Amino acid sequence: MAHLDQIDPKKLPHHVAIIMDGNGRWAKKQGLFRSKGHESGTKAVRDVIEATAEIGIPFLTLYAFSTENWNRPKLEVQTLMRLLVSSLKKELPTLHKNNIKLNAIGALEDLPKKAQIELRDVIEDTKNNDRLTLTLALSYGAREEITKTIKEISSKVKNNIISIENIDESIINEHLYTLNLPDVDLLIRTSGEQRISNFLLWQIAYAELYFTEVLWPDFRKTDLYEAILNFQNRERRFGKTSEQLN
Ligand code: FPP
Repeated sequence: MAHLDQIDPKKLPHHVAIIMDGNGRWAKKQGLFRSKGHESGTKAVRDVIEATAEIGIPFLTLYAFSTENWNRPKLEVQTLMRLLVSSLKKELPTLHKNNIKLNAIGALEDLPKKAQIELRDVIEDTKNNDRLTLTLALSYGAREEITKTIKEISSKVKNNIISIENIDESIINEHLYTLNLPDVDLLIRTSGEQRISNFLLWQIAYAELYFTEVLWPDFRKTDLYEAILNFQNRERRFGKTSEQLN
C-alpha cells in the first residue's frame, strides 16, 4: 500500500484532475440504488480533497457533472444536484479549516437556481483561502467550453478589440473556464474505463494519464498516493528527447 512519506515533495504535480467514475457499478455490485453509489462517492471526494491538501498539491479539479449527464434519468440528476447542495453546505467549515478555495467551471447557468446560489456563496466565502484551489466541473463539457471561447474571441475580433494576428494560446487560455488554472499535470480516471469523456481537452495536452480499476466510492487517500508515485516515476519530455532533459 502506498504511503504519504514515499512521495517526493520536489516532484509533485501542480494540477491534478479526476474523472470520478464507477459510482453506479459500485452500487449495483452490492444491490443498492445508483443514488447510494453517488452518496458514497461524496466520501471519496472528501478523502481525496484532504489528501491533496496534505500532500501540498495546489490545484485539484473534479469532474462532478458533465454536459452529457443531463441526459440521465431525471431522478438521478436530482440526486446529484441535491448531493452537491448538501455537500457544499456541510463542507464549508472543512474548506475553511483546510484553507481551501472553491472554484467552479462549466455552464453553471444551467444548474438549478439553488445549486447556483449555494456555489456562488461558498466561492465568495472561500475566495481568500490559498492552500488548495478545488475546482468542481459542473455541467461541464470541453467542446462546449471551446465553442464558447471561439464565440467570445470572434466577437472581440468583430468589434476590433482583438486582431486576428494577435490570437495565440494565451488569448485562448484567457477565454476558457479554466483561465485561472495551470495546465493539468496528472489526469486520473477510476473504474477501469480508459477515455477522456469530453473533460478538459485543451488543458490536458501534456498531462500524464493514469487509469485505475478502483471504483470511485472505494477510492481513498492511498489510491491517490499510488497515482502520484506512478506520476513521479514517469519522464515528462514535452516533445524533447531524453538526452535534452538531462
Ligand atoms: C460517475 O459514476 C460519477 C458521476 C456522474 C458523478 C460524480 C459525483 C459524485 C462523486 C458525488 C457528488 C459530488 C460532489 C462534488 C459533491 P457513474 O454514475 O457514471 O458510474 P457508472 O459508470 O458505474 O454507472
